[in-house]
This record gives sequence, C-alpha cells and structure tokens, in this order.
Amino acid sequence: MGPVHAAWAVLGLAPLLVLGIPPVWTQPEQVHLSYPGEPGSMLVTWTTFNKTGSTVEYGVMGGRLFDMAAKGDATLFVDSGTEKRRMFIHRVTLTGLKPATAYVYHCGSDDGWSDVFSFTALNDSSSFSPRFALYGDLGNENPQSLARLQKETQLGMYDVVLHIGDFAYDMHEDNARIGDEFMRQIQSIAAYVPYMTCPGNHESTYNFSNYRNRFSMPGRTESLWYSWNLGSAHFISLSTEVYFYLEFGLELLFKQFEWLEKDLQEANRPENRAVRPWIITMGHRPMYCSDDDQDDCTKFDSFVRRGRNDTKPPAPGLEDLFYRYGVDLELWAHEHTYERLWPVYGDKVFNGSKEQPYVNPRAPVHVVTGSAGCRERTDRFNPNPKAWSAFRSTDYGYGRMQVVNTTHIYLEQVSDDQYGKVIDSIWVVKEEHGFSAWF
Ligand SMILES: [Fe+2]
Repeated sequence: MGPVHAAWAVLGLAPLLVLGIPPVWTQPEQVHLSYPGEPGSMLVTWTTFNKTGSTVEYGVMGGRLFDMAAKGDATLFVDSGTEKRRMFIHRVTLTGLKPATAYVYHCGSDDGWSDVFSFTALNDSSSFSPRFALYGDLGNENPQSLARLQKETQLGMYDVVLHIGDFAYDMHEDNARIGDEFMRQIQSIAAYVPYMTCPGNHESTYNFSNYRNRFSMPGRTESLWYSWNLGSAHFISLSTEVYFYLEFGLELLFKQFEWLEKDLQEANRPENRAVRPWIITMGHRPMYCSDDDQDDCTKFDSFVRRGRNDTKPPAPGLEDLFYRYGVDLELWAHEHTYERLWPVYGDKVFNGSKEQPYVNPRAPVHVVTGSAGCRERTDRFNPNPKAWSAFRSTDYGYGRMQVVNTTHIYLEQVSDDQYGKVIDSIWVVKEEHGFSAWF
C-alpha cells in the first residue's frame, strides 16, 4: 500500500478511533426471581444490553446439571433519560417444579450464560409456614441492611423477600445506570428467592418505567398491583402512588380500587378463606405513622387512608375497604423508621384485650418498616405519638415474618445498627378471620 492509500485507510478508521467501538453486552446480569403465583412455577428475569436469546437451563440440585431448559422472551426497554439507553429484559417462566425441591440454574443464551444460582421451589401446601424478609426504602448508596440480608438469604433463612417500594434512589438516575447497579446489588438476594415488590414514590420518574420494566410480578399490571397465595395467606400488593401521581392517570386509582375490591371478595369466599384465612397487604406509603416529616401518613386525612375529595369523582381511601373485608395485616414502608401499631381502625385502637392486644385483634394490624438504608438516611419521630403507636425505632433494619399456620403469625424487627439484634417482636393470633372477627 502506497503512502497515499495508507493515509486514506487511517482517515477511514478515524471516526472509530475517536468514538470508540461500543463493547458487546451479551452477558446476562441483574438476575432475579419472582413467584408467578401458580404452584410449581418460578419466573427468572435478567438483563442484557445487546439482543440475545432467553433461556434458563436448570436441574434438581444434586442431579444432572441443566438437564431441563425453558425458553422465554425479551422486551426492549429504552430509558427516557438523555442517552435513551437500551436494554433487553429477559423473562422465562419455569413450570412443573416439584414443591420444596432445590434447583440449580443459569440463564442466558449461547451468547453468554450467567453464574450458577439455586432456589427452592415454593411449597404449595396451605400448611407450609413461609418465612419472609420485609423492608422498604433500600438504595444503591448507604444500603445499610444489604450485607446482612444477602448473607441471611444465602443461609436459607427466607423463602420470599418483600421489598415494599423505593428502590435504588433512583433507578432512572445517571441514565438508569443506578437502576442497573442496584439490580446487580440485590442479585445476591433476588437470584435465590422470589423478590416480590410494589412501587414507591422513588419509582415515579418517567411514569414508573424503570420499575414497570425491570420487575415481573404476577398479573397484567406491569407489577403495579397483584395478589398471590402462599401457605395459609393471601397476599395483596398495591400501589399507593396512584393517590399521588394523578398526572399518570386518575383512572389508575379507580382501576386499582375496583380490582382490590374484587380480589378481596374472591379471597373472602368461604371456601377460599377457610384454606387461606390470612389476608396480608403491602403498599409503600402507610395510612398511619408518627414521624415528624409531614408525609401523608402523619395527617389525619391521609390520602391512602381516607381517599381524596379534590378529585372528580372523589377517590375512596383504603382503610374502610380493608376493614370491611377483614384484612388482617398491613405492611408499609416509606418512612425511614420502624413502627408497630396497635390494632387500629378510624384512628382508634381496637386491641384484642388489654393483656393480649394481638390475640383476636378487633382491627387490622399495621407495621411500617422502611429503614433498610438509603442515601436519605433515617427519619425522626414526632415526640408525641398517638395512642395507636406501640413501638418505634429509628435504627436501620428490616423485618422478618413467618406465617406459621391459620391462627398464628410471627413478626420481628432486626436492627442493623445493633448488629442484627431483634429489637421488637409480636405474635398475631386469630381464631377467626374476616369482617365478623372484629366484633
Ligand atoms: Fe417513599
């Protein structure tokens, strides 16, 4: 090649040398599980940045590795930030799993496989006593409880994790790279046990698009609201955010409310409630709290609790609905504190008895656990809580719950500040469930 041709060749390459060639991203990452609600199933979700196939290869632990395979598909998610970053979210549902059996799996395609993970298929018996970790408000920065949760999950202490809204702080930031990094952070939990979620206010940017695209909850609501069963409990996950971000559609609020009522009616059919008498809700913003931050839950006319009168038509709140259908336990977050309430309805305490407040309580029991750790640190309490406030802590930490059987649920709160010490615990005991149990 003569000197002139060589010069042209270099010039021809120049744009590539200046801009760089983007790396090929076919390696699966951000692997996480969710429970689709059908006994014997598990859904695997992961991300690649280039398009690849979507396969999970799996097998019974101790058996032949990867002797089964399931295929799914991928959806393109384009973040709405300035870079319009693109990623492929892969979803594969495994079915026909043997209950309570441990499986080993990896996910990806012939363009790249993930690490090898394992999970135990959920026991579908109504006499199963599932164990949960529960928390909200866990961020990419200052994720105080994360290491403890990672280790405890890997030790097999939990069957399911409930993340009650507010992820990453915030998933959309840095053109959704914060979301990517957060999903990598929780992989060491979420690739091993179903990671069940609901949306919080920190997911609201671009109409919750990072939340709706990255998680894969049951139902067809892009993970906004759904229900599922495990052991002797019926779980309902909901969006409290429909009460606040009306710009994304007031109709969502009414749609959810209508769905909630139908779902509660179904759960209350005598044959259903006999098998799964516990009804447990999870939503991000509490109806009640005694923090000093002027949030919705600090107000008597909390939108979540009492609804909104400034909409057309007025929007019903959730307290009466949940009371009417005998919801037993309501799990919340958002406040970066822990607060346990006495059984409460209409701002009044309805303990089972003076000696045993949580034995046959005459109203739903509320627990707020939103101090897993994030860049906003913890919140402060108002010095004069109302009568319904039973126990409060500003330590970083998270909750544990076991639905033991049809009459007993155990709940406790772990302090990360106190090196994993259990700082609060209760047994909720109910011999009767449903609306009639309040009287
Ligand atoms: Fe929040």
